[in-house]
Amino acid sequence: MHRNATFAALVLTGAALPAASALAAPPPGKTLYDDNCAACHQASGKGVKGAYPALAGTPLIQGDAKPLLSIVLNGKNEMPGFKDDMTDADLAGLLTYVRAAWGNKGKAVTPAEVAAARRRK
Ligand code: HEC
Repeated sequence: MHRNATFAALVLTGAALPAASALAAPPPGKTLYDDNCAACHQASGKGVKGAYPALAGTPLIQGDAKPLLSIVLNGKNEMPGFKDDMTDADLAGLLTYVRAAWGNKGKAVTPAEVAAARRRK
């Protein structure tokens, strides 16, 4: 009886702690997105009509990573470029998040793809 209760308590604390921290940790790239992109494109990825294009559900975000990388590294019109602000690994994580968030179905972006896109410029 006593032994069972101790066992149950150990199982509960052992199981509950990692589960709680897994829930608290945002997906990789989300924090970077929220800090660098959400001011314009919104946390929802829906953008602002007439000002900031949606990143949710658009072909450019989910297709070949090259045009996407070109815009995010170098900017376009009102959109700032991020090539001097983020490492290859940060941009890969951020774009991997964006390509899988909000129902998007794009493939992950690797740091090597980001490095190659930098060399194309
Ligand atoms: C200061 C506001 C601003 C910030 C911050 C910003 N963007 Fe943009 N973004 C824009 C604007 C404006 C456009 C439209 C550019 C154009 O086509 O003239 C755009 C366009 C884009 C496009 C092309 C969308 C399409 O379908 O043509 C992508 C992709 C994109 N942004 C991703 C990002 C990502 C990822 C970040 C963060 C790393 C980011 N943006 C940060 C304003 C911003």
